[in-house]
Amino acid sequence: MKEIKACIFDLDGVVVDTAKYHYLAWKRLAKDLGFEFHEKDNERLKGISRLDSLNILLEIGGVTLDNDEKERLAALKNQWYLEYIDRMTPEEILPSVKGFIEELKDSGVKIGLGSASKNANYILEKLGIIHLFETIADGTKVHNAKPHPEIFLLAAKELNVLPIHSVVFEDAEAGIEAAIRGGFRSVGVGNPSILGNANVVIPNFIGMTASKFYGMI
Ligand code: G6P
Ligand code: MG
Repeated sequence: MKEIKACIFDLDGVVVDTAKYHYLAWKRLAKDLGFEFHEKDNERLKGISRLDSLNILLEIGGVTLDNDEKERLAALKNQWYLEYIDRMTPEEILPSVKGFIEELKDSGVKIGLGSASKNANYILEKLGIIHLFETIADGTKVHNAKPHPEIFLLAAKELNVLPIHSVVFEDAEAGIEAAIRGGFRSVGVGNPSILGNANVVIPNFIGMTASKFYGMI
């Protein structure tokens, strides 16, 4: 085991099951604009900022809009997304991740959040897990979205650890790329055919323990 001083978790699709709500809200927007948005294209939207996501969605639909209209639609998508979030319960914290984070903390590892979302604080507070994170680096604090490493570098800086001593947990290809560019080790959470550039890929946190993790990274 190499020295691990901090673990930095992405939010959507790693800690909470919100990725499906982002998808549903984008799908609804696409429908309003007159085209279908399919799950296979949704992978491209994971991990990246709201406006970057909208630009990809518009490109898929072949729709051109001015900036004011883009701002309006991004706000509308967020309004729909938050309607889902408002109905969320702690059951939508992904299985076993909370216990795993608590175990890491007990073993002296610092815990940070690294998410492009501007709703991160709200979601963590609503689900009663904000106290698990020593720092929250989110979309309100950075200029460059993943795959740029800024968000993870900020989290590591706030935790006062070097990237080489930190491990990033991510469900998005753009997030794994950001971790690699920043000099972090990474764990992909999900499909190995998408997250193959990570050091390790796990399907989810079920059965994961701190000692198992130290043995695999
Ligand atoms: C995460 C999600 C993306 C989402 C982005 C911005 O990275 O994976 O799907 O677009 O956050 O989220 P926000 O809540 O600010 O719209
Ligand atoms: Mg994610």
